[in-house]
Amino acid sequence: MVARALAAPSPLNIQPWMVRFPVPDRIELCIDPGRILPALDPDFRRIFIAHGAFLENLDIAARDQGYRTDITLFPSGWPGARLDLSEPVARIDLIRDTAVEKDPLAAVLFLRRTSRIPFSGRSIGQETLAGLSDSYDQSAIPMGLLTDPGSRSAIAALLYQATAIELSGEDRFRELLLFLDTTCRSDRRAGCNLTDLGLSSLSLVWLRLRMALVSGDRREALLKETLISCARRQASTAAGFGWITTPGNLRVEQIRAGRAFERVALTAASLGLSFQPMTQILSDYPGMEDLRNNLYDFLGIPRNRTIQMFFRIGYAAPVPATPRRPVGTVIR
Ligand SMILES: Cc1cc2nc3c(=O)[nH]c(=O)nc-3n(C[C@H](O)[C@H](O)[C@H](O)COP(=O)(O)O)c2cc1C
Repeated sequence: MVARALAAPSPLNIQPWMVRFPVPDRIELCIDPGRILPALDPDFRRIFIAHGAFLENLDIAARDQGYRTDITLFPSGWPGARLDLSEPVARIDLIRDTAVEKDPLAAVLFLRRTSRIPFSGRSIGQETLAGLSDSYDQSAIPMGLLTDPGSRSAIAALLYQATAIELSGEDRFRELLLFLDTTCRSDRRAGCNLTDLGLSSLSLVWLRLRMALVSGDRREALLKETLISCARRQASTAAGFGWITTPGNLRVEQIRAGRAFERVALTAASLGLSFQPMTQILSDYPGMEDLRNNLYDFLGIPRNRTIQMFFRIGYAAPVPATPRRPVGTVIR
């Protein structure tokens, strides 16, 4: 079950999860304090979303294996303004139940992917959009979707500017480099590398060649330039955009949004849709406020709500799976 939960998405594929089995049939899910992003995600919001995605996968996997889950968020007490990273995020009790309803999304747990390649010009039909909308109960955590060309290009302009802002912070760029391996080692089990950026094989060879010929600041400038142009291409080829909001921004809301998000991503996979979270614009670090507010205003979302996830959808050729750490390294 934990191995299937590990297939969940996480920012930069950091896999910030740690699990314990304190007693039989109980799993405790914690944050791995060595796998956080203090510069890129200073409020740890994306970490909690990734924990929600992990919980959703775990619940789907448990049901598939004939267990019902009883999930208690923050069993040691709800975190207030002060967050203790050593406290468990969730306690999952597994109850054997042969009558438990299986979720068809179990079939796509290992097929969901983040796709960063350009999407084709194919538009998304109403039935597919309706299928995506039905991926979870939206009464508490609504999702918005848009596909009209005018809105798409306005949003695309905001998204690629967000990438430029993200990369303009020295501490954020250094942190990105910790998880973006530019040497493309084949034994990598976490993080991302240049092959995950969505470049064509030719552009990738060209980039590697140019990176090999320069060093220091020029090499870094080349990487930033490439990341910004990838973001521009990704945003401008989206056939649609989607977002998930919560009334406030409590930790439990972040986790529940993560669960909802994972259901949308899995449903997209089951519908043959390509999918990519594009979340820089939602960042909590200083410098992103104006752009983020522009997005809220454009979508008509009141500033007292929180957009927890933002993503693009469309059609493209399949992309390979990203690696995961061996399940044993996540169990403490
Ligand atoms: C909270 C969160 C934020 C993310 N933000 C982005 C993003 O801005 N851009 C992007 O390309 N991928 C983003 N991702 C996707 C991860 O990079 C991806 O899940 C990870 O690299 C593992 O790859 P996979 O989804 O193909 O399994 C995000 C994922 C999560 C959970």
